[in-house]
Amino acid sequence: MKRIVILISGRGSNMEAIVQSCAREGWPAQVVAVMANRPQAAGLAYAAQHGIATGVVEHSQFDSREAFDEALAALIDSHQPDLVVLAGFMRILTDGFVNHYAGRLLNIHPSLLPAFAGLHTHQRAIDAGCKVAGATVHFVTPTLDHGPIVSQAVVPVLPDDTAAALSARVLQAEHVIYPAAVRWFVTGQLQWRDGRVVQAAGEPQLLFA
Ligand code: GRF
Repeated sequence: MKRIVILISGRGSNMEAIVQSCAREGWPAQVVAVMANRPQAAGLAYAAQHGIATGVVEHSQFDSREAFDEALAALIDSHQPDLVVLAGFMRILTDGFVNHYAGRLLNIHPSLLPAFAGLHTHQRAIDAGCKVAGATVHFVTPTLDHGPIVSQAVVPVLPDDTAAALSARVLQAEHVIYPAAVRWFVTGQLQWRDGRVVQAAGEPQLLFA
């Protein structure tokens, strides 16, 4: 059984989607822990209710990013993960942390990367007049939101869209592509090699939602 640790900062709906898909589809994997950088992260309660170990490493308790990341990595490593999944984890991670988990650290970003790295992606897509928006699953590398792309979901941007409406449309698609990408990883169909995604032919890496 592959061991998955999921990091969240808030709601945790992507984490829920992964936990549910893992159970429903019988992956050869287990979500062994869910961790947050904020004790108020709502998703922690869902994890605890489902018998998953939870942990909090509060970034505000640390003097530096390095010290926070070291404490976080120590807690993660105590669960011996094969894969670490960032699911709405709103902290910039140090190069040391990212390199420690190279090839086994995934993130989902709510835009069609490489467009709109960073925050406020939906409003920026609307303001730019984009006709499509979406989400991207990628391996994490030291450059924020720039790692090699695993899969993307595309949704329309509708006339008069608000950031909230577009965000909800994108989020539905996230809940499809992120569990699929994690399943590919834990079943050996997805790897990271020399900075590139290596993926067994099979399921499409693009969703038009
Ligand atoms: C998602 O839109 C994700 O793409 C972004 O943060 C949001 C987290 O939502 N990184 P949730 O906590 O998974 O509900």
